[in-house]
Amino acid sequence: MIIAIVNSKGGVAKTTSAIHIAYQLSNVGSTGLIDADPNRSSRAWAGRSDSTFPFKVLTEIEMIGFQGQFQHIVTDTKARPEPEDLNALLNAANLIVLPSSPSGDDLRVTAETARVLQKLGSTKHRVLLTKVPTNYKSSDEADARSWLKAQDIPLFNGRIRFYKAYDKAFLEGIPVFQVRGDAKAKVAWSDYQAVFKEIVSCVAA
Ligand SMILES: Nc1ncnc2c1ncn2[C@@H]1O[C@H](COP(=O)(O)OP(=O)(O)OP(=O)(O)O)[C@@H](O)[C@H]1O
Ligand SMILES: [Mg+2]
Repeated sequence: MIIAIVNSKGGVAKTTSAIHIAYQLSNVGSTGLIDADPNRSSRAWAGRSDSTFPFKVLTEIEMIGFQGQFQHIVTDTKARPEPEDLNALLNAANLIVLPSSPSGDDLRVTAETARVLQKLGSTKHRVLLTKVPTNYKSSDEADARSWLKAQDIPLFNGRIRFYKAYDKAFLEGIPVFQVRGDAKAKVAWSDYQAVFKEIVSCVAA
């Protein structure tokens, strides 16, 4: 499986999604996470020497030395990828995940990215709503879903809620479910588990 995590917008949880999807993919086969963002956030999170992550984090160039050694690949890309990068990912990937918070400007840029992919002929992309408010009174998620659906932009049914545990996980260099002393760490992980099930079923379809 090759899963590309892409969005022109920064700060929408591309890296967080790449890490937690790669973790689950590595339970079903050897997995490499390509950190194609010059900021190297994936490497900072999961590529430390004392890391307990079950997958390797490699730059595009380092990947050359690992040709064919992984059953599954996840790519974490920088914000504002070039159209040619999108095209290359479209040719290579089984699925393109577009993480986006439900906030206005994130959605606007996400929709633009989806339109570029659509113009390139993609039927492989889906928006993943991230950083979704946990306040049950918030209508942000429902509003975002209807706004995207009105434009025929495909979406995952699952969503990733907003929890501080992700920041802690990044700082400690661990997956979110290993964060101690945070009552929401396991709930946060369950969001990525639900989305992973959808990923597997849509790649199999
Ligand atoms: N579900 C979430 N709830 C709360 N905070 C989150 C969530 N997902 C990510 N974050 C936080 O939001 C910030 C941005 O996340 P992340 O680095 O994954 O985004 P990105 O799209 O990769 O950003 P960049 O464009 O800079 O590469 C980080 O501080 C991260 O811990
Ligand atoms: Mg990132």
